[in-house]
Amino acid sequence: MQSGVQAVKAEPIDVPRWRGLAGAVAMIRDPAAHLASLTEQHGDCFRYAFGGVAATLVISRPSLILHVLKTCEAAFTKSDIQTRYMQAFLGKGLLTLAGEEWRRQRRVIAAGFRADRLESLSEPLARLVVAGLEELATSAANDAPVAIDIDMMRLTFLAVARALLGADIDEAGVSRISEAILRIQGHLVRRIVLPWADSWFRLSGADERHQALRRAGDGVLAASIERRLAAGVPTGEGDMLDALLAVRDPETGEPMSREAVVAELMQLLVAGHETSSTVLAWTLWLLARHPEALMALHEECDAVLSGRIAGAGDVSRLPLTMATLKEAMRLYPPFWMIDRLAVSDSSCDGIDIPAGTRIALQVAIVHRRPDCWAEPAAFRPERFLGPERTNERSGAYVPFGTGPRTCVGNGYAWLQMLAILTGLVQRFDIAAVDDAVAPRALLILRPAGGIAMRLRRRA
Ligand code: HEM
Repeated sequence: MQSGVQAVKAEPIDVPRWRGLAGAVAMIRDPAAHLASLTEQHGDCFRYAFGGVAATLVISRPSLILHVLKTCEAAFTKSDIQTRYMQAFLGKGLLTLAGEEWRRQRRVIAAGFRADRLESLSEPLARLVVAGLEELATSAANDAPVAIDIDMMRLTFLAVARALLGADIDEAGVSRISEAILRIQGHLVRRIVLPWADSWFRLSGADERHQALRRAGDGVLAASIERRLAAGVPTGEGDMLDALLAVRDPETGEPMSREAVVAELMQLLVAGHETSSTVLAWTLWLLARHPEALMALHEECDAVLSGRIAGAGDVSRLPLTMATLKEAMRLYPPFWMIDRLAVSDSSCDGIDIPAGTRIALQVAIVHRRPDCWAEPAAFRPERFLGPERTNERSGAYVPFGTGPRTCVGNGYAWLQMLAILTGLVQRFDIAAVDDAVAPRALLILRPAGGIAMRLRRRA
């Protein structure tokens, strides 16, 4: 991925429409690389018609990112990628709702991830991580390479499912939902990049096949809800399912419908599915390529934790571990792009953004701006312990987004990533099998072809 960003220009360049059409194949093949190359040519704010049709303001300027996501957020809403495509396959939940409905749901979900809740999730999470790492040790015995991205996904997904549903979901149920989500996500990506093929997806039966997968996944969640209701709510489990079932509409006093609870759980599982696991996979790969950073991490974890798995109370005691994860998310942000639609006129930096403008915020590119980050392509965790930390507030670092729609699960994501990373590096020495791993930008910025690693037990 390139890191060059042209000097800021006041007026956005209008890239001719035919170039959008001509670039359609490059966009489908490698959207992140294509957008990086356009940014190098046209600067950090330009207009570009994706596929020759969807005129979009493409932004990688920190001040404009803050404008859209935070300071003037009311002038923007989520784009039709989320409201149309995601809602069609994932129902109405926090990811796809807007307005008052979203606000109400956001309060409930945010309460489910409060600091005291994270505290009480730490212990069961640590047990799950220890068991998961033991399994990993078995797969990695005799120097056998392991597909670390897949192992991390399995572990993080099981952890999220337990945080949401407690013991009310077994591993077979978790696998069924995980499989459904992966296949639905693949279908959504195809729907998004080929918007003109709507009828083909319908007539070929592809839409219906994926709706059936969704119904199967929903069925697993509905069964958990039935079991919980039969036990009487609140059960005192204190998990997200309890919170969702206990909530009452302030006006009508009615509980959430079963359908709404299922959609909310499914969307949390989707949002938490590939995100933390991808960050962990990239982090381990970067550490394997930077032995000095791995050694520093070993020293911090050994000194602070002495073999223990990190919990919510350890965050401030593990500055280097936190900085390492932040640096991996700077180089490889799972949400490499955030999209919006302007619903009213606004302006920032002398740029007018009329209602109706589609916006694509280039997270992966702003994270590598040479005027914000020293040696932007280098993996240097310690930058997050020095002056470059100010970028965390300037709009130049937004792995979790910012403003009211910032990631609602970010506290839990940190807990989970800290627990797994500290558990893993204290137990294993790690080595990458391949010298190079290229990023592949779908909905999430994944390692193309996965990441194979060898893990050896530390003395
Ligand atoms: C490292 C891991 C994660 C990253 C980098 C991440 C990133 C993000 C980003 C960038 C957004 C905002 C998107 C936008 O503004 O359009 C978001 C929203 C969201 N995330 Fe995360 N996320 C992570 C983990 C999680 C987890 C573990 C969960 C839940 C279990 C979760 C649940 C959500 C939900 C529900 C939203 C929508 C919030 C709303 O619109 O109010 N995320 N995430």
